[in-house]
Amino acid sequence: MSTGATPIGVGMLGCGVVGAGVVKLLQDKSALYAHRTGRRIELAKVGVRDPHKDRGVALDAALLTTDLHAVTTDPDVDIVVELMGGTEPAVELMLEAIRHGKHVVTANKEAIAKFGREIFTAANEMGVDVYFEASVGGGIPVIQPFKRSLIANEVTELAGIINGTTNYILTAMTEQARDLADVLDEAQRLGYAEADPTADVDGHDAKYKLAILASLIFGCRIDVDQIHCEGIRGVTATDIAYAKQFGYVIKLLAKAAQHERGIEARVHPCLVPVGHPMAAVNGVYNALFLKGDAVGDVMLYGRGAGQMPTASAVVSDILNIASDITAAKSSRLMACQHNHTGTLLPMSETISQFYLRLSTHDRPGVLGFVGSGLGQHGISIETFVQSRVTGGLAEMVFITRPAREADIQHALTQLKASDSVHDVSSVLRVGP
Ligand SMILES: NC(=O)c1ccc[n+]([C@@H]2O[C@H](COP(=O)([O-])OP(=O)(O)OC[C@H]3O[C@@H](n4cnc5c(N)ncnc54)[C@H](OP(=O)(O)O)[C@@H]3O)[C@@H](O)[C@H]2O)c1
Repeated sequence: MSTGATPIGVGMLGCGVVGAGVVKLLQDKSALYAHRTGRRIELAKVGVRDPHKDRGVALDAALLTTDLHAVTTDPDVDIVVELMGGTEPAVELMLEAIRHGKHVVTANKEAIAKFGREIFTAANEMGVDVYFEASVGGGIPVIQPFKRSLIANEVTELAGIINGTTNYILTAMTEQARDLADVLDEAQRLGYAEADPTADVDGHDAKYKLAILASLIFGCRIDVDQIHCEGIRGVTATDIAYAKQFGYVIKLLAKAAQHERGIEARVHPCLVPVGHPMAAVNGVYNALFLKGDAVGDVMLYGRGAGQMPTASAVVSDILNIASDITAAKSSRLMACQHNHTGTLLPMSETISQFYLRLSTHDRPGVLGFVGSGLGQHGISIETFVQSRVTGGLAEMVFITRPAREADIQHALTQLKASDSVHDVSSVLRVGP
């Protein structure tokens, strides 16, 4: 196909870490991309806050603007690429771009997870595409595989390590027997964690990504606020050491599964058996495991963040849309076809194996007391260790057989109120 036709115009909202990577790829590989899509891809406008900032890429100053509406409404722009982050003004600008007939590419998980309904409804009404490959898994292809390559399957469950910052922290805590505060401090100095690490450390970033994935695979909207979410702040070096003794490593997992009564969707630290492939996903790497009814188990693995891996996903979205524009067609497979909100299973009804670490008073019969306290709620113990006694307190660590979340919580409330149990130090789930 000739590439002499009118170029495809790209307007960018934001040109920070990821945006500069996108500019670099579009500049360095323009001939290759023109060959692959049949059209030249040209940067038409780049909206930023500070036009004088050094972005580490050679950007024609004439392209830069602080007027973001000039990007979303420019007649030369066919595709608006949103790389600002956050929800405001990003969501309103994406909606404005859609209303002006632009296709949209975004890496913004929070915007898609919270405002997907508004964004996709507007896009469907206007007949334009919204692509968001970089919003989950950074450079790992996740959205396209779900929407295209695995379309023959019903995916019944998935589990993933989908936040690189927390995986870096847990890996360093495991390999170097260090505390969270110490490793977090280092991660911030090295640029692996934000100055405000809340979104990562408290699990919100993984929750947004899980909402997007669950919506895709179960074909419904997911209310992100209903997803059970625990971050890694409660994970200690002591728990990591006990987990190792039992043959596990601790990972922050995002899990979703379809049940008759609703969708299970949760983010929390989890003890993963050392022999499971997920236990070997270390540092800033991400991995996603899923089960398709026809294909069986599939694992997607790679760099879940970083400038060029994320830019790879963004530019691939741009090129896919450019190719569809050239062919004068839109892909129904890539559009959002659902609008109802799925029913999420309450966390209290989910089933897990549990790791429990209790501090108990060193008295005869305490072990029996704790065992029967759990047993009264139908909870059986799979493994148990007791550590040395210090200051009249003994530490008991249990791994239970699968139990209902509500039963564990009731049993622990009763044990905590008893004279025998000094403290419930840790409650973690075992998985994946
Ligand atoms: N970084 C990663 O590894 C990664 C991975 C996956 C997904 N993402 C997602 O990609 C998106 C961008 O991330 P990033 O790391 O590239 O962010 P970043 O480095 O902070 O860049 C943000 C850009 O948006 C511009 N911007 C922000 N608010 C603005 C406003 N109100 N008006 C005008 N310009 C504004 C900034 O302009 P100035 O430069 O002038 O300040 C900057 O160019 C986010 O949604 C993020 O979640 C990032």
